[in-house]
Amino acid sequence: MGRLLIVHHTPSPNLQAMYEAARAGAGTDEVSGVEVVSRPALTCTAVDVLEADGYLLGTPVNLGYLSGALKHFFDTVYYPCLEATVRRPFGAYLHGNNDAAGALRALESITTGLKWRAVRPPVVVTGEPAKADLEACWELGAMVAAEVGDI
Ligand SMILES: Cc1cc2nc3c(=O)[nH]c(=O)nc-3n(C[C@H](O)[C@H](O)[C@H](O)COP(=O)(O)O)c2cc1C
Repeated sequence: MGRLLIVHHTPSPNLQAMYEAARAGAGTDEVSGVEVVSRPALTCTAVDVLEADGYLLGTPVNLGYLSGALKHFFDTVYYPCLEATVRRPFGAYLHGNNDAAGALRALESITTGLKWRAVRPPVVVTGEPAKADLEACWELGAMVAAEVGDI
């Protein structure tokens, strides 16, 4: 059984909708052999990361960067997980009001350092998520699950 860890910062209804869609995709019946574990970013530990086989990250864009919560998560787990999690698959969804460029740059830089493998480019949404945005979050979750499970 593979384990998919969702690490998310969810401070608003729009992010909650994206989180629920991504989590539903992660738990799809179309992929077997996956256990989904979900942790708010401020509570997630290095042990959670070490015990998982793939990662789904969700965050708002704050002050031109990842949320402080997701940054705190990476600050906490980066070195303890640096060698053990190489090549593990991940996906990410971001929500902002207008400009996610700085947050995307930071995510790319951190996950390149960890040598994690993106299953697809991050899903970036502004404003109220449309049906297609939520479908993209669902697919993102399902794609990480497919990497972790038996398919
Ligand atoms: C302190 C603060 C800083 C923010 N900075 C940015 C930013 O730099 N770029 C951006 O696109 N959105 C920014 N936002 C908007 C958040 O990304 C947005 O509120 C969050 O994704 C939740 O969306 P919602 O309020 O529409 O549900 C900021 C919000 C806060 C509270």
